[in-house]
This record gives sequence, C-alpha cells and structure tokens, in this order.
Amino acid sequence: MNNVKIASIGAYLPPLVVTNDKISEFVDTNDEWIVQRTGIKERRISEGENTSEISTKAARIALERAGVDPKDLDLIIVATISPDKFIPSVACLVQSNLDADKAACFDISVACSGFVYGLEIARALMNTMNYKNALVIGAEVLSKVMDWSDRSTCILFGDGAGAAVLKQDEKQGIIKSYLRSDGKKGEALTIGATDFDTPFTKEKTVSDRIIKMNGREVLRFAVGAIDDAVKEVLKDTDISIDEIKYVVPHQANYRIIKLAAEKLNLSEDKFYLNLDRVGNTSAASVPIVLNEMYEKGLFNKGDKIILVAFGGGLTYGATLVEW
Ligand SMILES: CC(C)(COP(=O)(O)OP(=O)(O)OC[C@H]1O[C@@H](n2cnc3c(N)ncnc32)[C@H](O)[C@@H]1OP(=O)(O)O)[C@@H](O)C(=O)NCCC(=O)NCCS
Repeated sequence: MNNVKIASIGAYLPPLVVTNDKISEFVDTNDEWIVQRTGIKERRISEGENTSEISTKAARIALERAGVDPKDLDLIIVATISPDKFIPSVACLVQSNLDADKAACFDISVACSGFVYGLEIARALMNTMNYKNALVIGAEVLSKVMDWSDRSTCILFGDGAGAAVLKQDEKQGIIKSYLRSDGKKGEALTIGATDFDTPFTKEKTVSDRIIKMNGREVLRFAVGAIDDAVKEVLKDTDISIDEIKYVVPHQANYRIIKLAAEKLNLSEDKFYLNLDRVGNTSAASVPIVLNEMYEKGLFNKGDKIILVAFGGGLTYGATLVEW
C-alpha cells in the first residue's frame, strides 16, 4: 500500500466580516444570545464569489506551498453542499481555472464531514490508481442557501474554502480513517434540491432550497459522533489519545466541542477552535482551521492529530494524521 501524506494546506475566506450585531439588524437576535449558545462572534460572507472561485484561491495557496504544478495533479475532489451548479462539478471548474489538465475531477456531498471523507477517498484512489498528487478541497458558499429570515440557522453558518495537497510519500501521513453515516436521522438537517413537477408526476413536490435544521437533534448527534469517531480512529493502532497533540474538530458550535471534550475526558485545550471568527463553514471548516494552525506554526514534523467532523446526512468521521 502506498503511503500518502498531507503535503500542504491553504485556505481562502471572503473579505466581508458579518458580525452578530449586523445579523441582529434583520432578525430578532443579539450578540449575547449567539455567543452564549454557539461561541460564534462573526463569520465571512461572500459578496458574489462562487464556490469554484474561492476553491481555486485556496487551492493555489496549497499548491504553491507544496511546490506542486497543477499540471501534475492526478485528482481533484471538492467536498461541498453549495456548488456553483449541479454540472459541471466544482472540481471540474477548479480544474479549468488551474489548467490541471490530467486530473480526474468530481465533487462529493457529505455536508460538514466532506473534507474528512475526501481525504480517505483520495488516499484510496492514490493507491488503486497509483496517483502521485491529489487536491482535496472543502468549500462552501452557504450564504446562498441560508434562510436569512430564520434566526435559528442564519446565525450559524459562514462561507470559505480550504484545500490540501496530498502526495505519495515514504512516510505514512494519513494513518487511518473512520467514516460513518446515519441516514435515518437525515431529516434533522436538510437543503432541498429541485422541484419534482413533470408531465408524469402524480403529485408535484416543491423543494425548499434552504437550510432547515432541528438544532437540538443535531447537537445531540454531534456530541456522540465526536466521542465515537475519536475512539474508533485510535482503535487497533498503537497510538494512544495522550500522544495526540490536537483534535481538530469541525467548527460548528462551542457547546458541542465542550460537551464532547467532557465525554472523552479530554482537556478543551486539545481542541483547536476558530469558530468565533468564521462560524460553521461546513465542508470547509476542517481545512480552514488546519490552515490557521499551520500559519501559526503549531505543527511540528511527527505531530499526531485527529481531524473529526459531523454533519448533514447525517454523517461523521475522523482521520488520524501524522504531520
Ligand atoms: C441552534 C442552536 C444554537 C439553538 O439553541 P437551543 O438552545 O437548542 O435553542 P432552541 O432551538 O431550543 O431555542 C430556544 C429559544 O431561543 C430562540 N432562538 C433561536 N434562535 C435564536 C437566536 N438566534 N436569537 C435569539 N433567540 C433565538 C428560539 O426561538 C426559542 O425560543 P422559544 O423558547 O420562545 O421558542 C442549538 O440547537 C445548536 O447549536 N445546535 C447544533 C446546530 C449545529 O451546530 N448544526 C450544524 C451541525 S453540522
């Protein structure tokens, strides 16, 4: 089996900062309520840049840091639930922007767990297809699908993109993944697609193309998901939780992280958070936070970290990585 490592990381956030106070100008909420229930203080919102554009910007940074020419990319995977279009995929749009002519390209729809799933899918293809270089992107412009009149959801999410370049290497960087889903709980978090209204439909169905969520149910699921995924990804390895320098969680909500840390009997300091400044950016959340940690110089060669994510589907998973 080929070893695969994360060779570099990059991210891009749209420049517009939207504070809680700004949101309270158009829905009945306030900064104190939002900070207390979620930990989020502000988020970035796109003023028109679409998912493929912010993906491309994050990808260019990661490629430059890895010293990889886009022409040498064998694979581009974009994890997103807010693509520019159904077709072409965001990955194909990024390929075109980068002139990454020989890459196989596709999007995956795993909501907030998308980047963690994407890493393992890329690693698998790098083995079966003997790909040398892959680009895995998590990117969202969720502001397009937000109901800006629903105070229980529009306070939570933000826009952004993060990208990782994966390379075959002598060293095993991605050690193990654990991926799970619970489709029976899917209705807890939905975004509708297209209406079903053809000359043949017996009953027309109209889709809500906005985020709808049962916040309590998602919160309960998320806490259990982090607990399960962190334990399972370490199982049958010779690595103990004490050797893990950081748990890098999907940045949904401070309360979820706090409850999960308690359940795992871990110090909150092990969990790196930037959700106060970016909110929940769904599939982009893990690579955006990884990029911030990288830029702060928090990773040393050989550090062991766990990436853990959960979200719509419902889905969840974790990746054990040696930096
Ligand atoms: C969304 C969330 C913050 C709501 O917090 P909560 O404590 O569950 O609050 P509830 O939904 O029970 O609502 C409590 C009250 O606050 C109100 N409320 C909801 N959003 C509000 C807001 N932004 N500002 C002020 N009040 C708000 C509700 O209307 C409700 O009022 P009522 O009691 O008069 O009906 C919380 O459920 C959560 O964080 N869930 C996880 C969501 C998540 O992370 N999803 C993404 C995962 S990938």
